[in-house]
Amino acid sequence: MKAVDWTRITRLWAYPGRNRSARARWEYIGRSQSDATHMMDGSAGEADLRRRGGRMARTLAAALGITRDQQVLEVGCGLGRVGREMAPLCATYTGVDISRSLLRRAARRNRHLPNVTLRHLARQGDHGDGLDGLEDGTWDRIYCHLVLLHLNEAAILSLLKGMRRVLAADGLVYLDAWNRNHPHVMELSRGEKLDPSLQRQPHRSRFYGRPEVEGWLAAASLQAVWISDESFLVQVVAAHSDCSPEALAAARERLAQNAVHLIPRGRLDFHVPDDDGVSAAETNRGAGTAES
Ligand SMILES: C[S@@+](CC[C@H](N)C(=O)[O-])C[C@H]1O[C@@H](n2cnc3c(N)ncnc32)[C@H](O)[C@@H]1O
Repeated sequence: MKAVDWTRITRLWAYPGRNRSARARWEYIGRSQSDATHMMDGSAGEADLRRRGGRMARTLAAALGITRDQQVLEVGCGLGRVGREMAPLCATYTGVDISRSLLRRAARRNRHLPNVTLRHLARQGDHGDGLDGLEDGTWDRIYCHLVLLHLNEAAILSLLKGMRRVLAADGLVYLDAWNRNHPHVMELSRGEKLDPSLQRQPHRSRFYGRPEVEGWLAAASLQAVWISDESFLVQVVAAHSDCSPEALAAARERLAQNAVHLIPRGRLDFHVPDDDGVSAAETNRGAGTAES
């Protein structure tokens, strides 16, 4: 498998248009299937998207206890890389994104799945949070993977407040961000700081640490159930502040067994080993309980 081509990613950030917004950049990236594929997670093609997306979907399902009676929301779904593999594991999958061009491609990739809905976030922040138009208290599980690493703190807080609002009371949220204290991220950050053209890009990488992530959760009235900064990502599973003690205890127990598989191993290339570490038994424990 090819590693992430950081030179290609840097070139793609150098959007040629005059509109300097992050939305315009993500629209531009969605004009080409190959560029969009690489920008999701460094994937080299459809087979890679399926394999890496499948691994993430199974791992999330096991860690979050996703079952076939649950409503699942992905914030920043891009090409529906993870969503395509998540949809068969849950009752409904909704993917939202700011880029219409990426959503059109996601719709093509997911058109065989009857329980998939894709929604464009046309505006963000008009009603106080980043998920304008999504219904309160609706989703049992929400995840936002490889998105916050492009956002400044104001945009992150706005999205987290939206997630808290649309999350069901006993629901869970998974989030990740670059871990600025990891040596590979430090290397990436040094490289980006040396490139003045990247500094002007609105969605260049942003580097955070565990204290900031904990601060965002508190500001959005979410409570951390599991947090890891062992890899190049700071990763969190959080619950609603109104989550029942029973649901919280069940989530903690499940995460103690399965969360370790969420932690990426190796360098910053999202490499998925052939033995992906998530056994069928773990997947079934997470994803099949509604049927058993
Ligand atoms: C690196 S891609 C990851 C896509 C997908 N989560 C995955 O893992 O394959 C980042 C995605 O976040 C979306 N995005 C960026 N800023 C966003 C925002 N403020 N709200 C929602 N989506 C956003 C982009 O359009 C893009 O699809």
